[in-house]
Amino acid sequence: MSDRLALITGATSGIGAAYADAFARQGYNLILTGRREKELKQLAERLSQAYAAEVTLKLGDLSDPDDLQALTDTITQLPALDALVNNAGYAEDGRLGDIEWPKHQALLDVHVTATTKLTHAALPNLLKAKGILINVASVASWLPTADSVLYGPTKAYVRSFTESVGLAYRHDGLKALALCPGFTITDFHSRMGIDPDTFYKDKGFTRAWTAEQVVAQSFKDIDKGRLNSVQGWNYKLLVFLVRHLPVTWMFAALGRSKSARFTK
Ligand SMILES: NC(=O)c1ccc[n+]([C@@H]2O[C@H](COP(=O)([O-])OP(=O)(O)OC[C@H]3O[C@@H](n4cnc5c(N)ncnc54)[C@H](OP(=O)(O)O)[C@@H]3O)[C@@H](O)[C@H]2O)c1
Repeated sequence: MSDRLALITGATSGIGAAYADAFARQGYNLILTGRREKELKQLAERLSQAYAAEVTLKLGDLSDPDDLQALTDTITQLPALDALVNNAGYAEDGRLGDIEWPKHQALLDVHVTATTKLTHAALPNLLKAKGILINVASVASWLPTADSVLYGPTKAYVRSFTESVGLAYRHDGLKALALCPGFTITDFHSRMGIDPDTFYKDKGFTRAWTAEQVVAQSFKDIDKGRLNSVQGWNYKLLVFLVRHLPVTWMFAALGRSKSARFTK
């Protein structure tokens, strides 16, 4: 067992749990965060048994300033850290005025403040280790998300922030990646009241991928020195089109679609 250490936020389910598995399989010990204690404990037990990983749990809500500060202090006090994955995230359904301000603030706190603050706290150790920084954005970082109003804009921040940090420190050995998944089969959509059995498609332009596929692709992209990672031919094509076609075409297409978030 190596003494490398990875910290993953939002490891309870989905992409975060898949990262916990992938890092443990590679011999890392783990610090895992989330709010659902029972699920986190079950995951920690499974990873300890399967990979002999030492797993420490830090329970907390990243939209709570005290919990975020406690996790920041934990990171600052670590003697070493080899990988940080800022994965915790979610979407609120609604246009700007449909949602009460505290819910907007919470989303900004989890996506923007927590990602930035935890990256800042971890940076000295990550640089010492020539380590890995993965911040989970979304293909929505390239799209306006009219019916989930802060989702696209906050994920655009996460992607741009990560690419900026990655460029700034790439000659110091930091491997920074903005993970930009499209639809991925996790708890994300069921939390929004969407039926996963009918929502996730297994083919076509909106096909969904598994969290394990998304995570495996991200490690390949880190090895290639890329700053962002998009899993699947369909989402690679979508991003290519959004970036290369006139933006007015995208606005026209999204304006015609019933939901600009392609959800329910
Ligand atoms: N699934 C997709 O289609 C998709 C596509 C693009 C991007 N993403 C992004 O991928 C990331 C992971 O989501 P997922 O798809 O794996 O969904 P998920 O299964 O719902 O996982 C989300 C994780 O974030 C944690 N989390 C959410 N709010 C939190 C808060 N306030 N404080 C602390 N932890 C919090 C959850 O833990 P607890 O509930 O235990 O707190 C959970 O572990 C998110 O950033 C999401 O935006 C997902």
